[in-house]
Amino acid sequence: MIIKTISLTNFRNHSEYHLDCNKDTTLILGKNGCGKTSVLEAIYILTRGKSFRSVDSEIIKHDADFYRIEIEYYNGEKSTATFDGKNKTFIILDKKTHRLPKKNKYPIILFLPSDLNLIGGSPSRHRDYFDRLFGQVSEEYNNLISKYNKALHQRNELLKTENLSTSDLFPWNLLLTKYGVRIFTLRQEFTEKINQTLNQTYSSIAKNDDEITLHYKTEVKKDTENFYLNMLEQNFHKDLYLGHTNFGVHRDDFEFFFNNRLADGSASRGETRSIILALKFVEANLIYEKLHQKPIVLLDDVFSELDNARRKCLIKNFKDHQVIITSVEKVSL
Ligand SMILES: Nc1ncnc2c1ncn2[C@@H]1O[C@H](COP(=O)(O)OP(=O)(O)O)[C@@H](O)[C@H]1O
Ligand SMILES: [Mg+2]
Repeated sequence: MIIKTISLTNFRNHSEYHLDCNKDTTLILGKNGCGKTSVLEAIYILTRGKSFRSVDSEIIKHDADFYRIEIEYYNGEKSTATFDGKNKTFIILDKKTHRLPKKNKYPIILFLPSDLNLIGGSPSRHRDYFDRLFGQVSEEYNNLISKYNKALHQRNELLKTENLSTSDLFPWNLLLTKYGVRIFTLRQEFTEKINQTLNQTYSSIAKNDDEITLHYKTEVKKDTENFYLNMLEQNFHKDLYLGHTNFGVHRDDFEFFFNNRLADGSASRGETRSIILALKFVEANLIYEKLHQKPIVLLDDVFSELDNARRKCLIKNFKDHQVIITSVEKVSL
């Protein structure tokens, strides 16, 4: 799918906004605060179902009571999303839904300036990043994460109540085990998949033999339900004392290793930029391999963060994709 036009009504600071997109590269230029990231956010909502940075109620323009996004694709299809403060409605091929159906989701490579700090970020930041990526290539993964989080929230609520016994937690332990083991297996698989090409992709950018790997860090030692359930039960007193669940895939992390050392602290600023660039290229290939679709590439203000060689590399690598770029200053492509 290639976007032809995008129109916004009451979306963040935009009362009315319209953009015609090129099939290859489109540049959105403007000073800070003029609403560039918001345009990418709107595209993201209509292709992925929800924003990458906040909830719908914060997106409606102040003092307005709804927002509306309309996208027309080059193949003639149109999609609309509206939010009236309560309900979000998607209209795709004249069909109304409140959630974006799987078949209408479209893959996106989103590159935010904050991604350049991913390597040094917290475990939850790393999990969010990879959950979003794995959720794009696997709807099963997407559903597992939301079911797991719901069950985890309910178990944590229960842990705050008085006179709790292990048996009260049993149904939640079973659910967390069922979803957790599968999430563990899929995280292992996807990490392995990324590692098949990450190193080679990094070399093609950095032009050297440095070695880069992604490591999936977890306390889940075995992919068996017995092990997982036992661990949850063993942690009962600790959980009760601390008031939350201390074992499970919600504590996993993803770490980058650079020449067999933790990249956080050992890779230079330039090297970390190349690692993230490599990751984005690997993402695009993974998406293509799994979904047979070329993602739309949204580059939010990242050009100013990259040197000339890395900018060229970015453009060259995504030359067969639709790329939408925001920037404060004019960039030569
Ligand atoms: N709900 C809203 N209503 C009106 N303005 C908003 C809303 N949410 C954010 N803004 C404002 O919209 C502007 C555009 O934000 P953003 O898209 O991030 O700009 P840019 O990426 O161009 O720097 C910001 O100045 C922000 O304060
Ligand atoms: Mg911005």
